Amino acid sequence: MGTNYRIGIIGLGTMGRNLLLNIASNGFAAAGYDKDPSKIELLGKEGEGKPVKGFGDLSEFITSLEKPAVIILLVPAGKIVDDVIAELQPLLAKGDIIIDGGNSHFTDTNTRVAKLELAGLHFFGMGVSGGEEGARFGPSLMPGGDKQAYQYAQPILDAIAAKVDGEPCVTYIGPGASGHFVKMVHNGIEYAIMQLIADTYEIMRKGMGFANEKIHETFAAWNKADLQSYLLEITADIFAFKDTDGLFLVDKIKDEAKSKGTGKWTTQISTELELPIPVIDMAVAMRDLSKFKSLRQQFSLAFKKTEKPSSVFKESSFKETLKEAYTFAMIGIYAQGIHLMAKASVAYEYSLRIDEIARIWRGGCIIRSYYLELIRKAFSSNPSLQHLCLDPDVGSIISHTEKSARNLVCEAVQNGISIPAYTSALSYFDALTSADMPTNLIQAQRDFFGAHTYERIGETGVFHTEWNQPLAGV
Ligand code: 6PG
Repeated sequence: MGTNYRIGIIGLGTMGRNLLLNIASNGFAAAGYDKDPSKIELLGKEGEGKPVKGFGDLSEFITSLEKPAVIILLVPAGKIVDDVIAELQPLLAKGDIIIDGGNSHFTDTNTRVAKLELAGLHFFGMGVSGGEEGARFGPSLMPGGDKQAYQYAQPILDAIAAKVDGEPCVTYIGPGASGHFVKMVHNGIEYAIMQLIADTYEIMRKGMGFANEKIHETFAAWNKADLQSYLLEITADIFAFKDTDGLFLVDKIKDEAKSKGTGKWTTQISTELELPIPVIDMAVAMRDLSKFKSLRQQFSLAFKKTEKPSSVFKESSFKETLKEAYTFAMIGIYAQGIHLMAKASVAYEYSLRIDEIARIWRGGCIIRSYYLELIRKAFSSNPSLQHLCLDPDVGSIISHTEKSARNLVCEAVQNGISIPAYTSALSYFDALTSADMPTNLIQAQRDFFGAHTYERIGETGVFHTEWNQPLAGV
């Protein structure tokens, strides 16, 4: 009976296997468990020569672990997590540690923390970002909750995380389910940036008439300079990728997007916290709208767009307009996600350090980009910064790129090209820069039809008016 594995992973899918290999490559002996023998076999092949071992028997797997046992779950979010915990519980001893590394809903994590605490087990939720490659060579890790348990696992987490400027892309996020909350917002931002890039593709192909080669070149060039980001990098690669028949693969892919739910959750929580994140909402809506293929086909016939795109798109300066507009909207997306985290930090008492979150997002994760260093700096020099765009450096980029965002949106709207991420980023900005919004009218309407009362400028208390009464003297 050996007790020699420092850590175990349950779920040997692509993420689980790659994380296990990452752990082993960093010198920690690691055991894996999966019900599926083919995955154990794959791990055996991929892990040859490394201190890893796969198990198909749960109690043998647990017995093989050093005490206290540290077990990372990498299984699909939802009921499966509870099922696995229920199977594990009788085999564990007090003080053992379970880490949920999946994309669990943060409210589920809260429930599990409370339940397992009663059983004397440590449990914490940890966002893991970076996909297959991140898991193998360095993800961004967002652990939150039981600090003592986190500290016990910290040497391993530090070793396996991506590194930027020699610093590991992992930090203790905060109490409770904060790790999973922050990972959810990461994914919301991911959805919105993906939609922004898709909008940019739409402009390039329908407005500017670019072929895939030129789209590839443009994204690749952007990615070399200050717009460097993982999502732009893979997008450039996608536009260069040809299928076995020599045709571009991207042109053969259905335009109906799937999702696993984290974007929708971000939108749901934002409405609950009354903190607007319209570009993320729009990105979720567009994936949903994409599924209405036949309706879209009917609409495209019923409301045909007859005119050719305007010549403005052909101007040589338009590429720069597009790049600046992209910068404007992309910063707005990060700003909205961060604003939501700041609100949640107060509402759920997470005490989030936005500078630290930006720091660990600079490497390993899907939304990593050059701009995260600027964001880190903004919140590090002013931790109580109310909104990212109020940072002087970020604000000057916004001011510098705003005009291009307007020009792009005007041209797209005039030409019937749908670029919802750009338009909602701009509308959000325009509302935010309105010291006087038209919401006085909404207050009046509510009071008119429902006697909901309203407040008056410069006066205290609430007021109700009998709006149907004719005015004296009229
Ligand atoms: C990551 C990704 C990862 C996963 C998304 C996909 O950070 O590594 O976000 O968690 O690829 O959750 O989400 P959808 O299937 O909802 O697009």
